[in-house]
Amino acid sequence: MATIRLGDEAPNFTAQSTEGEINFHEWIGDGWAILFSHPADYTPVCTTELGTVARYKSEFDKRNVKVLALSVDGLESHKGWVKDINETQGATVNFPILADEDKKVSYLYDMIHPNASDKLTVRSVYIIGPDKKVKLIIVYPASTGRNFDELLRVIDSLQLTAYHKVATPANWNQGEDCVIVPSVSNEQAAKDFPKGFKEVKPYLRMTPQPNI
Ligand code: BEZ
Repeated sequence: MATIRLGDEAPNFTAQSTEGEINFHEWIGDGWAILFSHPADYTPVCTTELGTVARYKSEFDKRNVKVLALSVDGLESHKGWVKDINETQGATVNFPILADEDKKVSYLYDMIHPNASDKLTVRSVYIIGPDKKVKLIIVYPASTGRNFDELLRVIDSLQLTAYHKVATPANWNQGEDCVIVPSVSNEQAAKDFPKGFKEVKPYLRMTPQPNI
């Protein structure tokens, strides 16, 4: 297992899921993807996470992001667990869950951190772009459920900054002002940002979000 870093090509794999066999790169297609791991089936925090993702599915769809969950249990176990999730979380699971019983994908994506647990995955999140490159990695411990509003926020930033020469400041949310990246001169900024910009400091220039 090699360390995966931002900008690397996301390792490809073929694996079984609750929606059939998935070849990861083919499945991603031309859009964006999130691959996120769950310590195990029939665990409480994971149950709430998968229910939340199911309820947020339309938000991921709007952003052209496919979601793929992973848990190291088998397909039959996943199917039973999905029934529980649907029953208890006010949601219908509407995305595939990988059945990574042999932990092939978990090891490929460094989701098992032996000093935390040598049997279960941690809560890893990988966001992958249409170019199949890794755009974001976040790792949470099993004890802490993820904030999926934060993941949507990050996707908005990743998709904005992929196409415009801006970065997003602390606590930025969709619709708020952005910073112009340092490599753009003021002269160029005047052309690239027709809504104008404010030079707070030569290195800190704010502009309205360019893609809205
Ligand atoms: C959970 O998903 O609830 C969980 C899994 C492993 C350890 C602690 C919590």
